[in-house]
Parts: sequence; C-alpha cells; structure tokens
Amino acid sequence: MSAPGLAVVRSVAELRRRVAAWRAAGDTIGLVPTMGALHAGHLALVAAARERCRRTVVSIFVNPKQFGPCEDFATYPRPETADFAKLSATSAELAFVPSIDEMYPEGFSTAINVSGIGEGLCDAHRPGHFDGVATVVAKLLIQTAPDAAFFGEKDYQQLMVVRRMARDLDLPVEIVGVPTVREPDGLALSSRNAYLSADERRLAPHLNRALREAAAEITGGAAPAPVLERAISALTDRGLRVEYLELRDAATLAPVASRAARPARLLAAVHLGRTRLIDNLPVPPPAPSRS
Ligand code: PAJ
Repeated sequence: MSAPGLAVVRSVAELRRRVAAWRAAGDTIGLVPTMGALHAGHLALVAAARERCRRTVVSIFVNPKQFGPCEDFATYPRPETADFAKLSATSAELAFVPSIDEMYPEGFSTAINVSGIGEGLCDAHRPGHFDGVATVVAKLLIQTAPDAAFFGEKDYQQLMVVRRMARDLDLPVEIVGVPTVREPDGLALSSRNAYLSADERRLAPHLNRALREAAAEITGGAAPAPVLERAISALTDRGLRVEYLELRDAATLAPVASRAARPARLLAAVHLGRTRLIDNLPVPPPAPSRS
C-alpha cells in the first residue's frame, strides 16, 4: 500500500534503485531508522533529516534481533496504515518497510558487537539488545547508503553504540543525534507509553523530574553518589522500580564517580507496571574558574 506523496518500498533491490536515481540527480539522502508506531519524537528526526538532506528515507522494521525472549516483540504496536498517513504529512519521500525474511533471509549468520560502550546500562538488563540494534542499523546504513542518519538522544546509549559502530566500520555516514521530544509534563515520548495505565501515566513524569533535580544538584556542585541514591529512593517510594540510574561520561559512557572536566550524562531506566521507561539528561562540566 502507498500513501499520497510517500513511496512504500519493501525490498532492498527497490530501495537501492530509488536511492541510485536520487544520487544520479545529485540529491543528498537522510535515513531515519524506526520500528514504527510513529509519534512526534520520530517526526522530529524526519524534520532534522529534511534540514540537512534533500531526500528522506524512513525505515520501519520491528527488529526481532533486539528483543529478548521475554520482551514485547509479538505485541509491539504495528499500526502500518496510521504510520504511512503520518509520514505522508511530512517531507519524507520513501518508507522502507522490509519483511523479516527480506532483512534476515534463511541462513543469516552475522552479528555486530560493539564492546565497551554497548555494555552496562541497558545491556546489563537486556543482554544482546545492542548487538541486535548494531546489526540491523549496519544493514540499513549499507542498504540505503545515506549521507546522514538520524537517531534520538532519548535512546542515548543506542546513539553512542551506532556512532561507534559507524566509525569502527568506516561507514561513510554522519550520525546525527536529535534532542528528546517530551510531553508537556516532561515524559519522553515513546511508542511504549501506550502500554501505561492511567495511574501509571500519572506517575511516569517522576522519572524525568528526578533526573532533572539530580542533574541540577550535580551541576550545582553536589557529589554524585548521594544525589543518585536520593533520586533512586524517591522513585522507589513512588512505586517506580529503578533498573539503573547512573552518571556516565557523555562520550565514552564510562562511569563517572566525581564531576570531571568533561560533559557527563545522567541515564536511567525504570519499570512502571509492565512498562519499561528510559530517559537521560546532560550534566555539563563545571564552568572554568575565573581566577
Ligand atoms: P524506535 O524506538 O522506533 O525509535 C526510532 C528512533 O526514534 C530512535 O533513534 C529513537 O531514539 C528516536 N526516538 C524515540 N523516541 C524519541 C523521542 N521522544 N524524542 C526523540 N527521538 C526519539 O530505536 C529504535 O526504534 C530501534 O532500536 C532502531 C534504531 C530503529 C533499530 O531497530
């Protein structure tokens, strides 16, 4: 099916044919990888792609390799018609919507592992998740061969993993990070927010609030460890189960024990009922002293 102004392509061969025609015309190409169930966060990536590139490809593929055996692969929302309608109201020209067989044909045996930056945080609780992400993103980058690819800061560790992978494999693409789009109460937009009950939805903004308060205290000079402990207790008291809440180096994701001269990032994942929410905020380095 196709929506007006939007070509829907399901095979790699057809994707390559269309991209080659644009290239021949001298157009630059931006890629926005998604798993569909599109919301304003995804559309901000499309807008960022449009600013930098003449043509925008949005991929929609619920990637089985990045879901754990007990995760929500089977029930992950797949509102294809609504997604096409949303994309056709944007500047995106092409939706690449491959089947599982198109991406992973019989006998598919390759995996990409990004060590270091892909370990700890989300990986500690979702082992193998970032191998699945790196593998599918590498394939999408090779299939589309874009000038730039756009990823949300909401999934900060994912953005860092993809950046490292593209550098390590010499993929000739710029990886662009786009700021997190939020609800007015601070909750980061996510396709999984649809799983929240009304009560859980009321509690969910506490995640961002706790991160904002902790980031402000650390920025103000407080020692990170007690600040993080207090934030975890405050969330736990409200009924949010904290998977992790940590201060890391913004570029390497190495643990940060005391505030150093480099930018840091405060990252957290919590469980609210059966829904897992993640969020993160920057913690800038201390201003250089004037003396
Ligand atoms: P998905 O969760 O659909 O997200 C697709 C892209 O949208 C990611 O880069 C994500 O960081 C970004 N995004 C999601 N919510 C956002 C928000 N509130 N503000 C800004 N950007 C947001 O992330 C994935 O899919 C997959 O892992 C994928 C990269 C497609 C590989 O399968």
